[in-house]
Amino acid sequence: GLKKKEVNVLCLGLDNSGKTTIINQLKPSNLCLYGPLSDDWRHVSQVKTQTQDIVPTIGFNIDKFKSSSLSFTVFDMSGQSRYRNLWEHYYKESHAIIFVIDSGDKLRMVVAKEELDTLLNHQDICSRRMPVLLFANKSDLREAMSSVKVSQLLCLENIKDKPWHICASNALKGDGLQEGVDWLQEQIA
Ligand code: GTP
Ligand code: MG
Repeated sequence: GLKKKEVNVLCLGLDNSGKTTIINQLKPSNLCLYGPLSDDWRHVSQVKTQTQDIVPTIGFNIDKFKSSSLSFTVFDMSGQSRYRNLWEHYYKESHAIIFVIDSGDKLRMVVAKEELDTLLNHQDICSRRMPVLLFANKSDLREAMSSVKVSQLLCLENIKDKPWHICASNALKGDGLQEGVDWLQEQIA
């Protein structure tokens, strides 16, 4: 069949926002479905399938998932403050950004905004028309803010030079993730 277009996506956001849980949901649940000789998968013999136990990421993980027309390579970065200086080393080679926010974490929304602003103003990002997909994650929490509220607090309407989209998501169940990936695919395809 036709080879899917390869895109690099950087998954960013504060620690504990749910990045790894989201990526884990997007990965194939059963590697065997793809067959051991599938061209697309042979070179990624270390592709990990969905795992039960998700622990805080150290440094970063590289993962793969596919949509109907694209083959994504995701850099799932650690959100811990001591690792955030790693993020910028991957800006140049990335085609899109997934930025994850814990919608229940009101206290750190200002920190999330600072990190987002720093990212968008970085020299390797600011001049490029790079799609930014935001997940207002943990929408299942009783105290979760709506995606509209999150987008107001992050002042997303100020992003004029890049296509952006925010989706409420519950990464534990997978709700909202497909809508986001569909949007991303439309922007890149
Ligand atoms: P770092 O790797 O440290 O940057 O964190 P991360 O952003 O990768 O977060 P991770 O995916 O490890 O999730 C952190 C915690 O939040 C875990 O206990 C997840 O089970 C939980 N979690 C993730 N998504 C959701 C969600 O949508 N709802 C709820 N209630 N919990 C979630
Ligand atoms: Mg993680």
